[in-house]
Amino acid sequence: MWNHPSQRWLILICVICLLSFALANSLHGYANAEGHPVEISATLPGQLKFVHVIYRHGDRTPVDPYPTDPWGDRKFWPTGWGDLTNLGKQEHYDLGKWLRNRYSNLLPPLYSNENIYVQSTDVDRTLMSAQSNLAGLYEPQGEDIWNTDINWQPIPIHTSPERVDPILAAKAPCPAYDYELASLESSPEFKALTEKHRNLFAYLSEKGGRPVKTFIDAQYLNNTLFIENLYNMTLPEWTKKVFGREELTYVANFAFAISSYTRKLARLKAGPLLKDIFQRFKEKSSGSLKPDRSMWVYSAHDTTVASVLNALKLFELHSPPYTACIMMELRVDETNTPLVSIFYKNTTAEPLPLDIPGCGPSCPLAKLVNIYEDVLPVDWERECKLSTMMMTYEEANLGTATGILILIVIALLFASYGLMIYYRRRNYKLYTSYSQMA
Ligand SMILES: *[C@@H]1O[C@H](CO)[C@@H](O)[C@H](O)[C@H]1NC(C)=O
Ligand SMILES: *[C@@H]1O[C@H](CO)[C@@H](O)[C@H](O)[C@H]1NC(C)=O
Ligand SMILES: *[C@@H]1O[C@H](CO)[C@@H](O)[C@H](O)[C@H]1NC(C)=O
Repeated sequence: MWNHPSQRWLILICVICLLSFALANSLHGYANAEGHPVEISATLPGQLKFVHVIYRHGDRTPVDPYPTDPWGDRKFWPTGWGDLTNLGKQEHYDLGKWLRNRYSNLLPPLYSNENIYVQSTDVDRTLMSAQSNLAGLYEPQGEDIWNTDINWQPIPIHTSPERVDPILAAKAPCPAYDYELASLESSPEFKALTEKHRNLFAYLSEKGGRPVKTFIDAQYLNNTLFIENLYNMTLPEWTKKVFGREELTYVANFAFAISSYTRKLARLKAGPLLKDIFQRFKEKSSGSLKPDRSMWVYSAHDTTVASVLNALKLFELHSPPYTACIMMELRVDETNTPLVSIFYKNTTAEPLPLDIPGCGPSCPLAKLVNIYEDVLPVDWERECKLSTMMMTYEEANLGTATGILILIVIALLFASYGLMIYYRRRNYKLYTSYSQMA
C-alpha cells in the first residue's frame, strides 16, 4: 500500500517534522510547565546575556501593631511579627516559576553556582522568600533529584548582617546620609509638606495611641491596617475616616520617596547597589565576569524597590506590593554593543520595558552609566564621612580637636625653642669670630 515513491517521501517528511517538534519541545520542556517561554528576545534588539533581579518579600504579618490595635495580640497571627506567611511562600514560589519560564533560555535547568548567585538581606522574611522563590525557579530535574519524596533542592542564599551591609540592606552607618536626610526634613519646603497633613497625623496619633509625626510613622500604621484588612479582620470604626482614603494612601506612598528624595540621598542609599550591578554588566559584556554567571538575585524590601526605582528616576509614587520585582537585563547586539533594559513587575500582567530617561527602553551600557553617574558613588565610605563644615559642635568632637591643637602648639613650642638655641649658638659663634677678627 505504501509502495509508491511519493508516499514514502511524504511519510519521511512527516516523521522528520514530528521528531524535530518533539526535540524542540524537550529542549524547552523543563521550563515550560505552563505556557511558552516569553519571546522577549523578539521585542528588543540583541541577545539576552544576563539579568539582575531585585524583589520584595511575599505576604507577611504586621511588623509592629499600634497600641490600641484590637488585632494587636500575638495569638491572632500564625507566625511572629513581620514574618512571611504561607501565602507569602506561595507568592514567591509562583514568582520563581514565572522567572524560570521567562529565563529558560538563559538559565540551564540543572543548578550550578556558576550560573546564579542569590543575595538576601539578613531578615527572616526575605531569606524565606528567596528560599520559596528558588523552590519554583529550580525544581530538581534529572541529576538534581536527590530524594523522590521531596520536589525541592537546597540552593545557597548569601547574606550579611544589616549593620555591615551597605549594598542591599543599606543600613551600614553613613553619617553624611543622615546629615543630608536631616537637612531635607528640616527644610522649609519639607516642613510645609508635613504641615499639610497635620490634622491627619493628629487624628492617627490620638486614635492609634502613639505619636504619628512623620510620613514614615503614618506609613507604618497604614501598613498594619492594610494587612489586617487583607486578612478580613474588622477594622475599628475610626479607621473608616482615613484608611483606604486618598490622603493616608498618598502619605504612605510618599514615605517611600523620602529615603532617596535628593540625588545625594539616592547616591548614598541606592548607589552602592546600582554601582555593583553596572560593574557586573561591564564585566559580563567584556567577558571578564568570574564565574561567568547569567543571573544575580537580590531578595529585599519595598524600600529597596522604591529607592532603586527612584534613583533610576523611574519611580511612580506607590507602595511596592508583595513580590514586586525589578529586572535589569543585559543584551548584546550584532555589533557587540551591550544594551540594558529595565522591567518592573508589580502586577500579574507581563511587564513592559521601562523608558529609561533620555535613552529609551534599550539603553547602551556606556550611556546608561553616564546617565546615572550622579548616583554612582566613587568611594562610598569616604563620601559617607562628614566634613567638619557639616557638623555640629558635639559631632565635630571638640575634645579630640582641642587635644590635637594642644599637641600642635606643644610641638611648635619645642621647635621654636630648638631653633632659638640653634640661632643663639650660631650668633655666639659669629659673634666670637667677629671679636676674634677685631
Ligand atoms: C496603604 O494603604 C493603601 C490602601 O489600602 C494601600 O494601597 C497601600 O499599599 C498601603 N501602603 C502600605 C505601605 O501599606
Ligand atoms: C478575605 O475574604 C475574601 C472575600 O471573602 C476572600 O476571598 C479571602 O480569601 C479572605 N482572605 C483571607 C486571608 O482569609
Ligand atoms: C505598579 O507600578 C506602576 C509603575 O511604577 C505604578 O504606577 C502602579 O501604581 C503600580 N501598581 C501597583 C499595584 O503596585
